[in-house]
Amino acid sequence: MGLMEGELEIIRAEVEAVLEKYDLDREKLIPILQGVQVKLGYLPKEAMRQIAEALKVPEVDVYGVGTFYNQFRMNPPGKHQFKVCMGTACHMTGGRIIMESFERRLSISEGETTPDREFSLERVACVGCCALAPVVVVDETVEAKVRPTRVDGILLGFGLERAAPEKTAPDEGIDQGEEGREQ
Ligand code: FES
Repeated sequence: MGLMEGELEIIRAEVEAVLEKYDLDREKLIPILQGVQVKLGYLPKEAMRQIAEALKVPEVDVYGVGTFYNQFRMNPPGKHQFKVCMGTACHMTGGRIIMESFERRLSISEGETTPDREFSLERVACVGCCALAPVVVVDETVEAKVRPTRVDGILLGFGLERAAPEKTAPDEGIDQGEEGREQ
């Protein structure tokens, strides 16, 4: 994901400040990554490169650790975050369809952020309200029994009318009867 204006300078300064707190030792890699994520909200590639240089380890090792642990984010968090529950109850009641609805409408994949950084989409494990499955956490609010039409409603609530659904789902169609037919 591209950086915004002035962001590289901020990343460099924040990483520098975190590095100053630790011995520049490979063993400190995880706490350093954690510290950078706390400051920046995610681990930009530029930050990982800078850490690799400082610790004198190959960049690929830093990426490897960053991508291995799911506590680390590789993309900046969106201004608004959609967390689709993929715990068992939500998965069984259509969580995947809900994830795909968000993916299609936002034109991003799970784990990504829209280029304008407005929205990010991620999967989460059970959020503890299985009776309401499938569940989506929108910022801090739990949305219960979500259907694809509700995904549209949620996005409209943010003033977003991106890619409209390609076609009307069969159960949403209105029987137009005689009037709807060609005369
Ligand atoms: S599985 Fe989604 S809330 Fe429990």
